[in-house]
Amino acid sequence: MSKINDLGIAKLIYDGKTTELPVFEGSEHEKAVDIRALRKETGMITYDPGFVNTGCCKSDVTYIDGEKGILRYRGYDINDLAEKCEFIDVAYLLVHGALPNEKQHAEFSSNLNLHSLLHEDMRHFFDAYPDHAHPMATLSAMAVSLSTFYPELDDISLQENIDYKVTRLLSKLRTAAAFSFKKSIGHPIVYPKRSLKYCENFLNMMFWNPVNDYEVDPVLAKALNKLLILHADHEQNCSASVVKMVGSAGANLYASISAGICALWGPLHGGANQHVIEMLQRILTEDEGDVHRIIERAKDKNDPFRLMGVGHRVYKSYDPRAKVAKQMCKDVLATMGVNDPLVDLAQKLEEAVLADDYFAERSLYPNIDFYTGLTYRAMGIPTNMFTVMFAIGRMPGWIAQWLEMREDPHGRIGRPRQIYTGHAQRPVI
Ligand code: ACO
Repeated sequence: MSKINDLGIAKLIYDGKTTELPVFEGSEHEKAVDIRALRKETGMITYDPGFVNTGCCKSDVTYIDGEKGILRYRGYDINDLAEKCEFIDVAYLLVHGALPNEKQHAEFSSNLNLHSLLHEDMRHFFDAYPDHAHPMATLSAMAVSLSTFYPELDDISLQENIDYKVTRLLSKLRTAAAFSFKKSIGHPIVYPKRSLKYCENFLNMMFWNPVNDYEVDPVLAKALNKLLILHADHEQNCSASVVKMVGSAGANLYASISAGICALWGPLHGGANQHVIEMLQRILTEDEGDVHRIIERAKDKNDPFRLMGVGHRVYKSYDPRAKVAKQMCKDVLATMGVNDPLVDLAQKLEEAVLADDYFAERSLYPNIDFYTGLTYRAMGIPTNMFTVMFAIGRMPGWIAQWLEMREDPHGRIGRPRQIYTGHAQRPVI
């Protein structure tokens, strides 16, 4: 669809010379100055650590208004999608640009099951990792390993095979994630079942075992669908940018996604969901549930500690995903009859954050990671798997962003510049 309006010219005046730079806006009226000719015209580059003001592409996939707390995938509001869709519909939407009709849904679902098995040789990889291996490391290794088993993915011109590639990736990495959990607890792995839908299959692979039969609870399957939808895309975030950066060098989709998984693992990004729970547990055990000490630590400029699950680069109001996640957390706990002291503590911490000037002045609110971990915990998913859940959810977003980047006629290898501040040339003595 790619709607662009030209808005005129911005003028940069420096050292007596005027440089004209085109200004344009996208379909939601976000304005940008096109600086592509800047260095050629002026010899200068821009300086923008963390790319806070830098747009790296035009994109049709996801729209965020951080001030108003709006998130839309392909024009659909996140609340609407979370309420009415299954995760695989949203995955299809992100990758193909439109929600599937019934026939497309059935085909996609069946393809996901068709490609759900891991090659048996890959299954043996799990035996070589120590039991305490973090499942995000394993998942990243599995993602890049897929490129050795399915090398035809390297041929990016095979557009007709794109569905095939996408379903393999979505389905096999979900299987790998469940295998890594089984390995970490020393249980036999559980193979995917053709009769089960995407989320149900994952829960079955996680929780079925030979001595304790397992029936998938529809409440949990619904909650998992919603959680994965909340995670599914977030435009040019850190991990998506990594996926695209790696892909911009011509690397295959599996390699690009493997790198994205590593980026997501970081505690300032998706890894925060694990750290939120660990932080809450520390407050409970070390501070007897008193949230004020940790708030003071977060505000202390001499202490590098940050409140996990709070703050966001783009959202300067309540993260719309956190709103859905908070309500869902309450619903899941109520339905399952779980009483978790960490949930009450999280609410106390949120109230303290919202009442404190430090956080208000900086527009810091709970983000998606604040409540999702508590829901995963109630579902029986262990803490070190939380970011893996995020990665499974984010997979369609990474794929959609990667495909868009590859199809962009203006796409170039990602390669930022720098301002060198080191020594001038000096001789070796
Ligand atoms: N606790 C305390 N202070 C914070 C926090 C926090 N969680 N987050 C930001 N601040 C403060 C900073 O110290 C800074 O204060 P200053 O202006 O006095 O120097 C100000 O708020 C702005 O923060 P920046 O670091 O400039 O914001 P940035 O956009 O670079 O970082 C980030 C965003 C990384 C998410 C940050 O808010 C953070 O570290 N949050 C905690 C980790 C977290 O929850 N990450 C998950 C994010 S959601 C996701 O990626 C899926």
